[in-house]
Amino acid sequence: MNNQSYKTDIISASPKTSGPEVTFINPNWYRPENSGFCIGHASALGETAYASFLKIKGVYDELVTDPYCAHKSRTRGFCKIVSCSDGETFQHQLLPLDQRHCQSENPEFENQSRELPALPLAEHFHEDVYGIVDAALRKCGLQHEPRPIQTKVHLQRLFATKEHPAMASPPQPHKDNAKFLYVAVLGKYNVAAVNNTLYDNNLSPIVEFELSPMEFFCLDDRRFYHHVDTVEVLSHCSEGYRDSLILEMLPL
Ligand SMILES: [Fe+2]
Repeated sequence: MNNQSYKTDIISASPKTSGPEVTFINPNWYRPENSGFCIGHASALGETAYASFLKIKGVYDELVTDPYCAHKSRTRGFCKIVSCSDGETFQHQLLPLDQRHCQSENPEFENQSRELPALPLAEHFHEDVYGIVDAALRKCGLQHEPRPIQTKVHLQRLFATKEHPAMASPPQPHKDNAKFLYVAVLGKYNVAAVNNTLYDNNLSPIVEFELSPMEFFCLDDRRFYHHVDTVEVLSHCSEGYRDSLILEMLPL
């Protein structure tokens, strides 16, 4: 890791504390003059969003296998939300019939256009998704964005066995063709440490950290590449998993 100056705007390179007292060191992390990323606890998004996180944790058992995963080691659910702000309040709209996740929108992943499984949107569940999206957009300062903002919402469970560790998609440092990216870990079971690494645009690593359950990182996608380690089970266990929630936010 090569650039000490990046460490000033994060809570810790290896955040282990949790609870309401953990919040952003720099609330304006997303501004160009600041670090461009932050790490925090889900409670930093406010009470409403935190309650939504706790409810969404229960949905992961219902996710279906990712059709693009060779070893069936990844289940996922996906939806798109479009949000419009009047400067203070967002109006959110779910696009229930649009499951296209076109990696081909990202110049690094041409010809990877995917139709992903839908989130199991039970009654009122979309309200919980809206609550989290609303809070995340505000933490990125997007309530002042005059354009509609598309947020791609991914719920992913990486399910690992002794024989088959589980890889994220894509399994190399990449960008997600978003303005801001938000990644939260909602649960872990029987898995070894899984490090996230952020890189500058020359692919030099900047910082490496592990997220505990209910912790997240957020970054300006144009300024960084990111990568997450393969999920491996603990040595004495036969299977385990890691649950994450990913928001890709992009003004249209
Ligand atoms: Fe990504």
